Amino acid sequence: MFNSALFKKYQVTNWLGSSLLYFDELNSTNKYAKEMVSGQSLHGTLILADWQKQGRGQYDRSWIASADQNLTFSIILEPNHSVALTTLTLACALAVADVCSYLTRKECKLKWPNDVFCEGKKIAGLLTESVFLGSQISRLVIGIGLNVNETAFGSGLKHATSLAKLTGSEFERERVLSQILTKIEYYYRLWETKDIALIKMINKHLIGYGKWVHLTVDDKPREGLFKFLGINETGSMMVLNKELEVDTFAHEQIRIHLD
Ligand code: BTN
Repeated sequence: MFNSALFKKYQVTNWLGSSLLYFDELNSTNKYAKEMVSGQSLHGTLILADWQKQGRGQYDRSWIASADQNLTFSIILEPNHSVALTTLTLACALAVADVCSYLTRKECKLKWPNDVFCEGKKIAGLLTESVFLGSQISRLVIGIGLNVNETAFGSGLKHATSLAKLTGSEFERERVLSQILTKIEYYYRLWETKDIALIKMINKHLIGYGKWVHLTVDDKPREGLFKFLGINETGSMMVLNKELEVDTFAHEQIRIHLD
């Protein structure tokens, strides 16, 4: 069972995770975070479940993780601008990748749009959802699932890995979570101040950056190869086409295939 008191001992963030809502089990931490009633500021609130009964992933998939072995949590952010929200999700993914690289001593990278991969396998996934007030985004919910001590993945999860699988050791989830939040808080500051250094760090960590790749746009494969140029300062993804023109795409539209 996740030990909230131990986590609080490790926690060194200024605002992120100061308010922690812990559940032994929950349908989905993202769902819970989206449904929380607004009123007082929820910025930085952390919702963590030891087991999710209906964990959700991108493209309406489910996120399956055994109880007590992994980290499944959501953070609520109420940013003061809503420019480049894609970059914010990638910044959180970068934070997870940094901690995974540090703990495994292996190179962990970002797989477009929101995954963290290590040795060709997925170790973490992120799902960002927005809550609207009228036409304005009032709250962002960034859900993170990180495989920590799971070592037996079902047949449907052949391409999954965990910190324990990569290293042969078990990890204290409370400490891992504290390390991730510290990094997210740091990258959040860079995002908030529109620091270009963040874009450069994200791009350097994107699998396929600078390579010729195949694209699927709105579920339709595009003919030919495109050079993957990473994201720009607005968070749009850029590619160089055969005519040597730069095309930009919104996050949701595009998937990359490295052949
Ligand atoms: C993906 O890889 O498709 C994204 C997975 C996101 C999973 C996390 S676990 C915590 C949070 N709650 C959810 O229901 N999903 C996210």
